[in-house]
Amino acid sequence: MTPGIKPLIAGNWKMNGMLADLGTLNEIVAGIDDAMQQRLDALICPPATLITAAAKCAGGSALAIGAQNCHAAVKGAHTGDLSPEMLSDAGASAVIVGHSERRADHGENDPAIRDKAEAAARAGMLAIICVGETAHQRETGHAEAVVSAQLDGSLPMEPGFAVAYEPVWAIGTGRTATPDDVAAMHAVIREQLVHRFGAAGDRTRILYGGSVKPDNAGELLAVANVDGALVGGASLKAADFLAICRACP
Ligand code: PGA
Repeated sequence: MTPGIKPLIAGNWKMNGMLADLGTLNEIVAGIDDAMQQRLDALICPPATLITAAAKCAGGSALAIGAQNCHAAVKGAHTGDLSPEMLSDAGASAVIVGHSERRADHGENDPAIRDKAEAAARAGMLAIICVGETAHQRETGHAEAVVSAQLDGSLPMEPGFAVAYEPVWAIGTGRTATPDDVAAMHAVIREQLVHRFGAAGDRTRILYGGSVKPDNAGELLAVANVDGALVGGASLKAADFLAICRACP
């Protein structure tokens, strides 16, 4: 954790969730008690098809709703895409950009991710910018250089976003980085943020993601410069997501 930063526990439902699954969201809303609300911010990013309904379920509660991707433009001839303004209009207040699955599946590169992060800020949304190395890059000793280059290329000009460090090899695999590795990488990210943005870099949240579960969340969230978690699989179960929130120091 970083003193003075309110942690953010964000759930990424990925391509999971039907209208019938909104019961899970209602359970999460009901499970966020006053003590939790004071300690942390909670966010669920369902698929775009559910944002409007999810925002309705969460309306007036402490749970925020986010999106998993956006286009950089406000509107126009971009079949199948959604602008941050549209996502905000639907009820989302945050958007994940540059997730490794989008980098891999859709060829998204750093400049495109920076444009999306800038666009999110334009629409008044929090961008959660994802970075992380592959197993091969870590094994060959390039993890820090890869993450630094991703930050260099994908951070917007102005602060006001969050970063999520998600080692690709830890996503959906049940493997997590060790607390020492997480501490080392988050320190590198913090240094780069402060170098770029001064005091605002010190206040920028750096989330950890990759197989965060109820039984490892406490240990990971206690690491210096870990200001929250981006949770995939475990956010699909209300009990697990809430247990992660409760484990947050
Ligand atoms: P996971 O996914 O928690 O299922 O590993 C994390 C993510 O991709 O954001």
